[in-house]
Amino acid sequence: MLHLNGLGKRFGEQWILRDLNMQVDEGECVALLGTSGCGKSTALRLIAGLDRQDEGSIELDGEPLDSIPAERRRIAMVFQSYALFPHLSVRENLNLGLKIRGVSPAQRQQRIETVLDTVRLREMADRRPQQLSGGQRQRVALARALLRDPRVYLLDEPMSNLDAQLRDDLRPELRQLILQGTQPVLYVTHDQQEAMALANRIAVLKDGRIEQIGTPEELYKTPASQFVASFIGRPQINLLPVDKQLTIGIRPEDVGFDPEGMPCRLISREWQGASQLLLLDSPRGALRMLCAGDLSLSEPLHVSWLTSAEHRFDAGSGHRLAE
Ligand SMILES: Nc1ncnc2c1ncn2[C@@H]1O[C@H](COP(=O)(O)OP(=O)(O)OP(=O)(O)O)[C@@H](O)[C@H]1O
Ligand SMILES: [Mg+2]
Repeated sequence: MLHLNGLGKRFGEQWILRDLNMQVDEGECVALLGTSGCGKSTALRLIAGLDRQDEGSIELDGEPLDSIPAERRRIAMVFQSYALFPHLSVRENLNLGLKIRGVSPAQRQQRIETVLDTVRLREMADRRPQQLSGGQRQRVALARALLRDPRVYLLDEPMSNLDAQLRDDLRPELRQLILQGTQPVLYVTHDQQEAMALANRIAVLKDGRIEQIGTPEELYKTPASQFVASFIGRPQINLLPVDKQLTIGIRPEDVGFDPEGMPCRLISREWQGASQLLLLDSPRGALRMLCAGDLSLSEPLHVSWLTSAEHRFDAGSGHRLAE
C-alpha cells in the first residue's frame, strides 16, 4: 500500500501542499478532489518522483520511496495531457515503453494485443494520435499505464479532455480497469461526480491541505465543513445563515412541499427530465429545491424540511458542529 506521511511542498516561499497524510490500500482507489491550483498534480508528481518534497515522506509497502529515482519506482502515471508521441502509431506508442524496459519482442507483441483488447482499441492500433478522438487517445494513455505493470497507478484527470458523453461512456470502463487490479490507485479530479462514481474514498483538498477524507457516502452525509458540503453533491447544498454563529446546510433533495411550511415564490425552474430544480425566494433567502419532474406547480409554494436533514456549521470557521 501507499503511505503519505506529512507531505509538504513549496515553490519559493509559497507552500503548495502542507501536512498531507494519507494511505491508499491494495486494490483501493482514492480520489484527490479539489479546485484548480490546489496542489493535486503536485502531489502526484512527488509520489512519481518527478519532483522532490520539502517535508514528509512517501512509503510503498513499508519501503521508503524517497531515495529511489522516478524510473525505478514502478509507478504508472497518466497525465492530464496524454503525452503520446505524435509520429508513432498507437501500437508503436505502446511498444516503446516495453522496449525501453527490455521486454522481449514476442512478449511485447502478446501484451500489447491483450491490452488493446482491454481498452477496446484493436481496430485503431495502426493510427497515429491525431487520427484518434480525445476519448480514444485517453484510452491509449491508459493502455500504456496498464502495460507498465506498476505497483501504483497515479491518474491525473484522465478524462478531463473528454466531452460529457464520452466521459459517461468511459467511466464504467475505467471503473472496471481500476477494480480489476490489486494496485492502489490515486485518482486526481476536480469533478465531484467522477470522484463519487470511481473512488472507494475521497480526499477533499483545500489550499494544499486535506479538508476531509472518507467514503463518498460519509462526505455526502456528514461533511466536515461548509467547503466539503458545497463541493460534494449536486445540485449544490443550500447554506442558510441563521445568526452570527450558525449556518444551516440543507440539500435541495431534502426540501419538500408542505402546506404548513414556509411560503415561497418561484424564481426559476430547470427541468432535468426525471427531476426539476426549483430556485425559490423564501423568507430565509434563496433556496434550491429538487422535486419530481412531472409535478405541476401552483403558487404560492409552501416548503419545509426535517430538522434531522439539517447540517449545522460554525458560521465563522465553517466547521461542522457536533450533533
Ligand atoms: N514549478 C512550479 N513553480 C511555481 N509554482 C508552481 C509550480 N508548479 C505548480 N505551481 C503552483 O502550485 C499550485 C498547485 O499546482 P498544481 O498543478 O498541483 O494544481 P492542480 O490542483 O493540479 O490544478 P489543476 O486542477 O488546474 O490541474 C498552483 O498554484 C501552481 O501555480
Ligand atoms: Mg493538475
